[in-house]
Amino acid sequence: MVVGVGIDIVKIEKIKKSIDRWGEGFINRIFNPEEIKPINHGKMFYQRLAARFAAKEAVIKAMSKNLPLALKDIVILNKESGAPYCSFKKVVDVEILLSITHIEDYAVACAVAQKES
Ligand SMILES: CC(C)(COP(=O)(O)OP(=O)(O)OC[C@H]1O[C@@H](n2cnc3c(N)ncnc32)[C@H](O)[C@@H]1OP(=O)(O)O)[C@@H](O)C(=O)NCCC(=O)NCCS
Repeated sequence: MVVGVGIDIVKIEKIKKSIDRWGEGFINRIFNPEEIKPINHGKMFYQRLAARFAAKEAVIKAMSKNLPLALKDIVILNKESGAPYCSFKKVVDVEILLSITHIEDYAVACAVAQKES
């Protein structure tokens, strides 16, 4: 049963500026090492990082902000196919369906939260 939906858009430049200003500290406050490792080597690093930020915000919206979840409790990874998925550092009773897109200027993510009915 679908219990929530969330969407978020992030300007890539905003993420880039935050990293320029706060450095690794900014990244480490929001992302887990396992999220950074697979995306850290490509020219699309900032796009992919912004997309993961958008994904976390979309997940929080989909969960109706009811749970005390920190951004770092939400883990955004990719399957072998390239499709993104969401797991949690806390025990959470919802499953998230996730979609991500990014271009030069913006990243967008959409999340659907479902519970077993
Ligand atoms: C998977 C696919 C739809 C991605 O399209 P795209 O325009 O390159 O992707 P976008 O830039 O909008 O989004 C990229 C995100 O798509 C997601 N993605 C990648 N593979 C995916 C898959 N198999 N399923 C769902 N989402 C996927 C990822 O989250 C990726 O971002 P990330 O790598 O930072 O995690 C595309 O590569 C594809 O396979 N299309 C099939 C149609 C086709 O082959 N067309 C070519 C002939 S015209």
